[in-house]
Amino acid sequence: MAILVTGGAGFIGSHTCVELLNAGEDIVVMDNFYNSNSRALDGIRKITGKDFKFYEDDMLDIAAVDQIFAENDIEQVIHFAGYKCVPESVQKPLMYYSNNLRGTFNILETMKKYGCTKFVFSSSATVYGIPATVPVKEDFPLSAINPYGSTKLIIENLCREMYAADNTWTMILLRYFNPVGAHESGLIGEDPNGIPNNLMPYLTQVAVGRLPYLNIFGNDYPTPDGTCVRDYIHVVDLAVGHVKALKKLEEKPEVRVYNLGTGHGYSVLDVVHAFEKACGHEVKYQIKPRRAGDIAMCYCDPTKAKEELGWEAQYGIEEMCQDSWRWQSQNPDGYATEEK
Ligand code: UFG
Repeated sequence: MAILVTGGAGFIGSHTCVELLNAGEDIVVMDNFYNSNSRALDGIRKITGKDFKFYEDDMLDIAAVDQIFAENDIEQVIHFAGYKCVPESVQKPLMYYSNNLRGTFNILETMKKYGCTKFVFSSSATVYGIPATVPVKEDFPLSAINPYGSTKLIIENLCREMYAADNTWTMILLRYFNPVGAHESGLIGEDPNGIPNNLMPYLTQVAVGRLPYLNIFGNDYPTPDGTCVRDYIHVVDLAVGHVKALKKLEEKPEVRVYNLGTGHGYSVLDVVHAFEKACGHEVKYQIKPRRAGDIAMCYCDPTKAKEELGWEAQYGIEEMCQDSWRWQSQNPDGYATEEK
């Protein structure tokens, strides 16, 4: 019996594979390397000292997905695969809907065909749209404010409707806040295609000299220092959250939803300063106009995950910055860095 991890070579996927293998689970990994690299798989093997089956496949290829289920006894699926860049989704909505939805349909249809009914989905805090208050709780109203968010919301709704129609499914929807950090080994980490869109990879690339300075998008928000506040969470904490969710999958069929965040908000400037401490030098930045679509404050109430999953974030902003820096400084060009 194995767990299928789609998108297992990606940032959150690779860290989750490590935690699953460390917990003694048997995994089968699938990835098309669209926004990931085979060296992440080498990193997982090196960190854990364990091997696993890997399929270089695209979830849009239903015959390939079918073959994975035919060749393995898949009992649970953790579904990370998908496009994830918000501004790109605004430019290319059809591409996002087509990939994220059709791919997920293929996974769910194949699960149904093979009688596999345990599903963990990578959702996002984006499903809260513009929250009226913080901290954000799981029962807050949901809305989508960009195509990427729409795909997450549609898949969440689909899971609820599939369960309503057939209550043998167990669906766990994990709403991630802002994942950062890297494995402490420095062997796996975040390596986005092109110029990073998110704060931490941009910051680390400035610190390592790949980019000249950080643009801080707005310092006139109604927050303590004027820059936006987010709930940054160490990717290893997030990965452990998936291991806990798998245990929950075994309890009884239902749909469960959890926020995975620390519950603490840090401003962009807080992160910059914590990062400067971690890397030991100043990081240049310039204040720029607000970025379209940003909200002033977003952080979660993680109580439900603590009470029901027995999960709580262990790492603080210092470790997040130290581990992000270790990864980037050891791998200035990410996975393209030449091995010494
Ligand atoms: N920021 C900068 N400069 C940058 C990049 C980001 O100042 O170069 C600021 C943003 O304006 C924002 C904060 O840093 O205030 C965080 O921005 P990120 O892009 O890192 O993260 P977001 O909160 O915008 O987005 C994240 C995920 C999305 C998810 C969204 C809502 O990346 O996938 O949270 O949950 F949809």
